[in-house]
Amino acid sequence: MPKLFEITFPGECKTLPEGFWSAVDVWIKKPHVVNKRLCGTTETESTDVGEEALLFLLDDPELLHEALSFITNEVPPAQGHEGESPWSSTVRTVIPKVNSYGTNLHKEVVLKDFGRQLVSFLPFEEDSEGRVSLKRGNVYQFQLLHQDGEGWALELHALAPDEWFSDGVVYPKLPWLSADLLPKLVRWATECKTSEFKSTLSLLPVEKYSVMYQQLKEKYKAMVKIWPEVTDPEKFVYEDVAIATYLLVLWAEERAEKGLTSRQSFVDLGCGNGLLVHILAGEGHPGRGIDVRRRKIWDMYGPQTLLEVSASGADTLLPYSGLGQKKHWLVTPPGLRPSLHNKLL
Ligand SMILES: C[S@@+](CC[C@H](N)C(=O)[O-])C[C@H]1O[C@@H](n2cnc3c(N)ncnc32)[C@H](O)[C@@H]1O
Repeated sequence: MPKLFEITFPGECKTLPEGFWSAVDVWIKKPHVVNKRLCGTTETESTDVGEEALLFLLDDPELLHEALSFITNEVPPAQGHEGESPWSSTVRTVIPKVNSYGTNLHKEVVLKDFGRQLVSFLPFEEDSEGRVSLKRGNVYQFQLLHQDGEGWALELHALAPDEWFSDGVVYPKLPWLSADLLPKLVRWATECKTSEFKSTLSLLPVEKYSVMYQQLKEKYKAMVKIWPEVTDPEKFVYEDVAIATYLLVLWAEERAEKGLTSRQSFVDLGCGNGLLVHILAGEGHPGRGIDVRRRKIWDMYGPQTLLEVSASGADTLLPYSGLGQKKHWLVTPPGLRPSLHNKLL
């Protein structure tokens, strides 16, 4: 089996081998932590399976034989696992930030072999009619090995590295897997700080976020061309679109959960260019932005985007606390938070 790359590290690490699986889970569940072109993934429930579960993907007997010998590390499962299901399997769908793939879905069968500390990824594409095609050239795996007296090694293997296809998004480059991802897996496996990976996005349904992000990006991308500020329009517009998407999905979830009928209101303190206020108000949320300094761009938004100049300390917030006798979401950059008391809102 072609071993492409390995990293060795000392034997006294107490987090292994469990840390290896925590690190692998970060890559499976949150690949966007390292691949910024991804939005996230969805994953099916894990089930224990044998080779019959792969037949939907490997219908050609030769391909099945080749893939099985790779996945099993050339030791057929029957030798070590007679009558057992050798793998814990899930199917993950990789969701790119920008979808330029039409209706095709990018999926991977992920097979964990806990006995051999081996995880295999079998990427495939699924069209709108459910037809699947294996990306044979992009089948890869990671294996953790304990080397007697020499510590640990983490290896990257690929089934057919010469046929590797990369688009830099859902199919990363092979050198990226070895030079970027592999060292990170080692670091995560040996530090094992699982809390580090609890991203705010994990609070949201990733697919809803992805769909809404595309819609809002399309709707507000014109702002990039007419941006009158000296700041970088690409950065600010898409950053605010991302923050707005996050809040809109979060608020929609909250309304559904609590049975709320009206849209949440908000105050953005230190709103800067005001684009976040403009988007949230444009999507039907009553709210206003406050900043010590007026920006040119404020004039472009129109009267429905309420922006005002004020130095927002605790005192100046008081008038907003009584707005309609209801609570408002407070949106504010970190630097302004210490001086504020949520109870005011
Ligand atoms: C880091 S910027 C954030 C801008 C915007 N919220 C964003 O995310 O792009 C902080 C903003 O807070 C404003 N600011 C600082 N102190 C303030 C205060 N006491 N009251 C209101 N705005 C303040 C600044 O003028 C600046 O626009």
